[in-house]
Amino acid sequence: MSEYLVDIRHERLSFFTPAGEVKALNDVSLRMKDGEVLGIVGESGSGKSVTAYSLMGLTADNGKIIGGEVSFNGHRIDQMVEKEIRRIRGKEISIIFQDPMTSLNPVYTIGNQIEEAVRVHGDKSRKEARARARELLELVGINEPDKRLRQYPHELSGGMRQRVMIAIALACEPKLLIADEPTTALDVTIQAQILELMNELKKKLGMGIILITHDLGVVASMCDNIAVMYAGEIVEYGSCDDIFYNPMHEYTKGLLKSIPKFQEKEYSKLVPIEGQPVDLLNPPKGCPFAPRCRSCMRICLSRKPERMEFGDGGHYSRCWLRQKEAFEAGGLNGMPSVGGVTVAGAAPAGAIPNDAVSAGSGMETAVSEKPEGAFPQETREVDS
Ligand SMILES: Nc1ncnc2c1ncn2[C@@H]1O[C@H](COP(=O)(O)OP(=O)(O)OP(=O)(O)O)[C@@H](O)[C@H]1O
Ligand code: SF4
Ligand SMILES: [Mg+2]
Repeated sequence: MSEYLVDIRHERLSFFTPAGEVKALNDVSLRMKDGEVLGIVGESGSGKSVTAYSLMGLTADNGKIIGGEVSFNGHRIDQMVEKEIRRIRGKEISIIFQDPMTSLNPVYTIGNQIEEAVRVHGDKSRKEARARARELLELVGINEPDKRLRQYPHELSGGMRQRVMIAIALACEPKLLIADEPTTALDVTIQAQILELMNELKKKLGMGIILITHDLGVVASMCDNIAVMYAGEIVEYGSCDDIFYNPMHEYTKGLLKSIPKFQEKEYSKLVPIEGQPVDLLNPPKGCPFAPRCRSCMRICLSRKPERMEFGDGGHYSRCWLRQKEAFEAGGLNGMPSVGGVTVAGAAPAGAIPNDAVSAGSGMETAVSEKPEGAFPQETREVDS
């Protein structure tokens, strides 16, 4: 059995629509150990939910895994039929959705809904299930659990409803909890409380957690590792420190510049990432971020960046600029160094096509080939 709880290899997943094939995941690989907390960040439509749901065998009717392998806890999810996956879903993997109001059934009491979750995958009697429901409410920090069990969702505050959703998700003692934007619908104070609760639960129960969010601040507080997604690809992966203090992809750098820094003495302007997300019906040939990247080079428009590793902690990115920097530091044939980080992944000989590194053949600004208006005029200069 794989040593990984989650082991996704080169997954490609498409949705088939009347307008054409939406290439939602393009060569996604991801590994996660037992008890690890992984953050998946990226803007709307980047494939965060699709990646996590495919682990539960949840793809819409028009969706299909068209390549690669998706394994969870030793099960090859991509090869299983719905009936087999159903035994795993809700037992070994649970999910918390963004909006607890739409996920809870308004006509059943909180008690009914948690008990149902407890009984569906176990052989507990009604009485045992009620006792477990009470226990779960206490675990997620809900006061007066006996009273709450008799209440309906509309009688609870937003924060409490989200706690109930977490209790339901924990009912089967999952090995992996997927939290899809679990705090987006809540106000800031309640968001912090829910994150604190999840942190406590992680320590107490030791389960793996995938935390999906577009908010880098959220992942910073609780994740071990972070996968940054863009247009259906993982463009950078690393530990929290790698991503926050040593980002190696231009999109990650853009994300970091666009979050407020409270510790700064003076107000600094937030820098938005300009431009539009990629049309996944017609994704670009090269780097998907190229139309919005201020450092775009010609090669970025025509060839997908190779994966490049930094150090031996698993940090990698897919960005031609890093390959160029390593090459210029004399790294690709020797002991490379990029931004003070040794490139252990070795950027294998030939990773940068020979023709691309010679002057005037790829690794210079892509100005002449950029679509008009793709990024502001004054930012088009790049060292080459
Ligand atoms: N059933 C579907 N049919 C067609 N396209 C789909 C379908 N489900 C998802 N997609 C597309 O797949 C891509 C990835 O979607 P996904 O829901 O994973 O994005 P996300 O990163 O979770 O975004 P958000 O932050 O908005 O939730 C998007 O372009 C989305 O439009
Ligand atoms: S430099 Fe090139 S490869 Fe790197 S993010 Fe920009 S467009 Fe993509
Ligand atoms: Mg989503």
